[in-house]
Amino acid sequence: MEQKAVASATVRPQETITLNNSMKIPVVGLGTYKSDKKQVQHAISDAIDAGYRHFDCAWLYGNEDEVGQALHSKIAGGLVQREDLFITSKLWNNFHEKSKVIPMLEESLGSLGLHYVDLYLINWPFGFKENAPLCPTNHPEKSYSNVDYLETWEGMENCVKQGLAKSIGVSNFNPQQITRLLDHCKIKPVVNQVEVTPNLNQKDLIKFCKEHEIVVTGYAPLGRSAHHGTSGGPTPTMLDPKVIQIGEKYKKSAAQVVLNYLVSLGISVVPRSVHKSHICENINIFDFTLAPADVAYLDSLNKNQRVVTMSEFSSHPHYSF
Ligand SMILES: NC(=O)c1ccc[n+]([C@@H]2O[C@H](COP(=O)([O-])OP(=O)(O)OC[C@H]3O[C@@H](n4cnc5c(N)ncnc54)[C@H](OP(=O)(O)O)[C@@H]3O)[C@@H](O)[C@H]2O)c1
Repeated sequence: MEQKAVASATVRPQETITLNNSMKIPVVGLGTYKSDKKQVQHAISDAIDAGYRHFDCAWLYGNEDEVGQALHSKIAGGLVQREDLFITSKLWNNFHEKSKVIPMLEESLGSLGLHYVDLYLINWPFGFKENAPLCPTNHPEKSYSNVDYLETWEGMENCVKQGLAKSIGVSNFNPQQITRLLDHCKIKPVVNQVEVTPNLNQKDLIKFCKEHEIVVTGYAPLGRSAHHGTSGGPTPTMLDPKVIQIGEKYKKSAAQVVLNYLVSLGISVVPRSVHKSHICENINIFDFTLAPADVAYLDSLNKNQRVVTMSEFSSHPHYSF
């Protein structure tokens, strides 16, 4: 028998997940990777109006100045207070030495115009030499640093001790790397940010992280759809005709179906958009429940295919996939 689509009137854009340090991470955040400097300011402003309070940033993205300006104009306008916001930034791979962690966070804080971030992440477990290119794809081995992420983590812990980060976490870490980190750390990571899409639903990693009180944040949740065809990655689920059809039943877009499915896995997500209609769509995902048959279809799409492989660095001793 056909399962009924369930819709309710409640919209809960401020839905949160509690972290192991009692802080709350809003389930939907706005991604900012590759968001053009001019467009990102409007995107942040539109996102705050739409109810977003969580922003996913990084030193590497090169637009933290513009993100900061947009946040401050909303704060100055009285629309939000700093305490309402959950701001994440990330340490890039060339700066894994313990002594570099605080200066790099300070640089991000300077750009963002903030005294602290809510979450600071080690972007990848593997490091590059400080003077190497930021993404050293030519003869990558020459650029590898031998700094252990355990050393980097000590620098991350110092960020918390100095009040520059309310919480710290990792990104793109596998279970073995997390276990090793948990065996040595003084402050537990609160988050592991990894790619999660229906093509790569990460159920095992999510379960593992949950058992260790670590929340998973799913990046590239829409399969980086606008770049499909240029990146060589798997077909984004939001382009699947059956998913578009599922969306029609609930009067939702395929992107909303995908995001609703992903948050039902117990994770937070950080879809990126610089267009107001998409920004609004991507947070308006809490007022419907997918029927079991629809969930089963989305489950069936798991093929362990990544958009972000960083396979150029697969010979690095700390490569995670
Ligand atoms: N930790 C890490 O290593 C890591 C790696 C990758 C990404 N990230 C984070 O995750 C965020 C998201 O990942 P991503 O930016 O790679 O990819 P994504 O969020 O999966 O896809 C973004 C693309 O989807 C389009 N889009 C967004 N909403 C849409 C909608 N409702 N309908 C149709 N198209 C829509 C956007 O175009 P429009 O602008 O036109 O809407 C954009 O081009 C990043 O921005 C970054 O913050 C982290």
